[in-house]
Amino acid sequence: MKSNFTDFPLLEKKNKTYPLFYPYIAKSSIKSMQTVLKSRWIGQGPLVDDFEKVFKNKFAKNNECVAVGSGTDALHLAFILANIRKNDEVICPLFTCTATNIPLLYIGAKIKFADIDPKTMNVSIEHIKKLITKKTKAIIFVNYGGVPCDLEELNKLKNKHNLLLIQDAAQSLGSKFKNKDITNYADFTIFSFQAIKHITSGDGGLLSFKDKKLLDAARRIRWFGIDRIKKQGGTWENDIKEVGYKYQMTDLGARLLLDTLKEYKKITTHRKKIFDIYKKILSKNKNIKILDTTNLLLTNSHWLCTIITDKREFLQKKLRKLNIETNQVHFRNDRYSIFDKFVINKKFPNMDLYEDKYLVIPLNHKISTKDAYFISNSINRILK
Ligand SMILES: Cc1ncc(COP(=O)(O)O)c(C=O)c1O
Repeated sequence: MKSNFTDFPLLEKKNKTYPLFYPYIAKSSIKSMQTVLKSRWIGQGPLVDDFEKVFKNKFAKNNECVAVGSGTDALHLAFILANIRKNDEVICPLFTCTATNIPLLYIGAKIKFADIDPKTMNVSIEHIKKLITKKTKAIIFVNYGGVPCDLEELNKLKNKHNLLLIQDAAQSLGSKFKNKDITNYADFTIFSFQAIKHITSGDGGLLSFKDKKLLDAARRIRWFGIDRIKKQGGTWENDIKEVGYKYQMTDLGARLLLDTLKEYKKITTHRKKIFDIYKKILSKNKNIKILDTTNLLLTNSHWLCTIITDKREFLQKKLRKLNIETNQVHFRNDRYSIFDKFVINKKFPNMDLYEDKYLVIPLNHKISTKDAYFISNSINRILK
């Protein structure tokens, strides 16, 4: 039977198109996936363990790593392990994928949103300083588009006020701060391997954390609260003492990730090349600002390229006529009614200024350097 699934409102396939996002699948996976499909393990098996080891070695040497079914699973697991409970006060990013904050609603935590820093659209450290009280338990922050927040400043706040730091690195795989992996700067760091991220397993995620004592609990809560190793030994005592979830990664997903990780350098090198072309061409245009990291002591992993313009809608419509896909991607989370009951504060002047101005332009392996010149020159022509 023919599927009714349509990718509207994505671009029509006729003529050349410039997609905003595109999944990256390593060529080697087409073959290696057959091996997994013919094996005993297609759910969570040995490849998940292998992936955790390879990932730890590459991005989180000083942390423990637990692979899960999505970035959202990893966030929920982080909040549970951080012991965030009903009515606990947490500071979170106003501007992010809703997935950063929605698991806090499962718990019933009290949310204080941090306004954006106009330079990066990451959380404003100055605003966070004003939001911290004796009741604050954790700061949750996202590295928007691949650009790390000021991780040293956040650590100063952590130490001064005895808080936990939970880092949403869904968009910042491999980003660094002062040449160190970002995983060094937070108690918990989560990653997403959803379809359009740097590396993907269709859906997948990973939680990394510093406190090694949490490893057994993390593994149990990932899988119903059951100690899987004991169970597989065939001598499992049949009791579950804590509520767990079904948050594990599968070997099918792990195979895709292991293959793609080998190409991580190629993926990010290309993304940087495209980003640098946008920067070079768009910086000539006084009507546009490109969110950039120049002069900050960090390494961007270039997941998004975001521009700021007073004529967003006009630009978007013109670009669509050229088959160039753009989008806001994320919206300020206080616009969603689900947060109303949980959010304490309401004023966000920096976000108010940017709300109608930010736009994300295509940045992925399907965009060639020639495409990047075409896209950025088109933007300059439309907004001259
Ligand atoms: C910043 C951010 N946090 C969390 C998530 C959630 O990840 P997942 O879709 O893997 O659950 C995403 C993306 O989807 C994201 O962009």
